[in-house]
Amino acid sequence: ETSEQKQLIELHEQAVKLYHHILINTKMGESALDYLHHRGVNDETIDLYQLGYAPQQRLLKPFFDERQADYQLLRKSGLFSETQDGKLRDRFVDRVMYPIRNGTGQTVAFSGRLLAKDSDMPKYLNSPETELFNKRKILFNLDLARPNIRSKQPALLFEGFMDVISAYQGGIKSGIASMGTSLTEQQIYDIQRITREVIVCYDGDAPGQKAIKRAIDAFKQTDHQLDLKVVSIPDGMDPDEFIRNRGADKFQTLLQQAQSPVDFDLNYLKQEANLKTEEGQAAYISEALKLISTISSGISQDLYLNRLADSFSIDKQVLKQQLQPLIRKNV
Ligand code: UTP
Ligand code: MN
Ligand code: MN
Ligand code: MN
Ligand code: MN
Repeated sequence: ETSEQKQLIELHEQAVKLYHHILINTKMGESALDYLHHRGVNDETIDLYQLGYAPQQRLLKPFFDERQADYQLLRKSGLFSETQDGKLRDRFVDRVMYPIRNGTGQTVAFSGRLLAKDSDMPKYLNSPETELFNKRKILFNLDLARPNIRSKQPALLFEGFMDVISAYQGGIKSGIASMGTSLTEQQIYDIQRITREVIVCYDGDAPGQKAIKRAIDAFKQTDHQLDLKVVSIPDGMDPDEFIRNRGADKFQTLLQQAQSPVDFDLNYLKQEANLKTEEGQAAYISEALKLISTISSGISQDLYLNRLADSFSIDKQVLKQQLQPLIRKNV
């Protein structure tokens, strides 16, 4: 950690305090606080995550000016955008502020969520890449989740901030987020350093399902030792919505029913397939066999073959013959 990095972290800590203060103690923060309360986030959680509000009035720049902060440091922090003539302006305006901490608990960036629904601006605006912050290398909430994951709870991989926060508030404290739907190699590496058990809990909507597929593939490419499971959230909800509507206990039940990646892939394949035509069926069966060929246990391979044979009323021996060359290919 260089002294410049230290100073940048210090700057972020001050910004966290200011945004948090505005949210909980000022009239300016009222609508944002209402927004969070309406979303079911309680005051204890707001405090734990040091959530904040960046108001319409750009207050961060004058706040640091008063403290005679260094121009170059402010410039490098990512908290400001730069005008043509080199003036710095607050980057985050009228947004609920989520501090993003690194693995050791230092705040290195922010994400700000829009309050207004009808806007063509991105829903979440993140700090740009800085000396402190590389989005691809950070898992949201890893610092708080790590001790719980280490004490033998599986790591729960969510998409978003609110999924992690809702779960945590509901007593499910081993959640981390990839902050979007693309999981990076570095993030997988960081998960593998602390656990072998991961449950992917991405959103129940179509992009979420696609992302689960990509995540499974990404995990496959890095390590075979991981015990990976997948949760499907019903009715297109995301984990935050599910927990709010049905409760954290019901979410625990979903976690207990988590599927293996092969089951998820087979289901996904089935939904995409056109099983009304014979060509469609044949294509599905051939793809399904490819998936089954990747299963390492011969016994479970056999069980999957039984199921496939039954559901299409075909001879299991025929399927077996088709499977053999695929297995050889995998070795
Ligand atoms: P989602 O679109 O699922 O949003 O993105 P969400 O978390 O459910 O948001 P709410 O509930 O409407 O507040 C999942 C995650 O992807 C990242 C954020 O980390 C978000 O939590 N994301 C999403 C961005 O970085 N920018 C965006 O514009 C949208
Ligand atoms: Mn507080
Ligand atoms: Mn989503
Ligand atoms: Mn979501
Ligand atoms: Mn959501």
